[in-house]
Parts: sequence; structure tokens; C-alpha cells
Amino acid sequence: MWTRAALDQYLTAPQQMVPGTRMMIAIPDAQQRADAIAYLATTGQ
Ligand code: HEM
Repeated sequence: MWTRAALDQYLTAPQQMVPGTRMMIAIPDAQQRADAIAYLATTGQ
């Protein structure tokens, strides 16, 4: 489930949370992660 906490963990270090993921890009800045997650919350669920 893409909870906010799971998204935050994934976007901090995708390959640590999901070994083997093809997503190479992290969002190291906590505020930028929070902004991205807040945006996603406006798009649906
Ligand atoms: C809310 C932000 C994001 C989320 C939740 C997210 C999530 C994911 C997920 C779940 C995958 C699939 C990984 C896999 O199948 O192994 C993926 C792949 C990928 N993501 Fe992201 N991503 C985000 C933002 C970004 C951004 C901003 C970039 C680049 C600027 C990016 C670049 C990529 C790339 C290059 C892949 C691999 C695509 C491929 O070759 O199949 N992602 N992402």
C-alpha cells in the first residue's frame, strides 16, 4: 500500500526499501518529499 509513510520511505531511498527496483532517483530533501506526497494526495485516493 502506498501510504504516506511508505511513500516517504521509498522516495528517501527507493533501492533500500525495494531492493532491485528500477527507480534510481531519490528525493533527499524532506520538504520536497512532503510536497510531492501532498500533491499525490490531491490526485485521487
Ligand atoms: C512521487 C514520486 C515518485 C514515485 C512514487 C515513483 C515510483 C516509482 C516506481 C514504483 C517505479 C517502478 C519501479 C520498478 O518497477 O522496479 C518507478 C520507476 C522509475 N522512476 Fe519513479 N517515482 C517517482 C518519481 C520519479 C521521478 C521524479 C523520476 C525522475 C525524474 C523518476 C524516475 C524513475 C525511473 C527512471 C524509473 C524506471 C523506469 C523504467 O525503466 O521502467 N521517478 N518509480
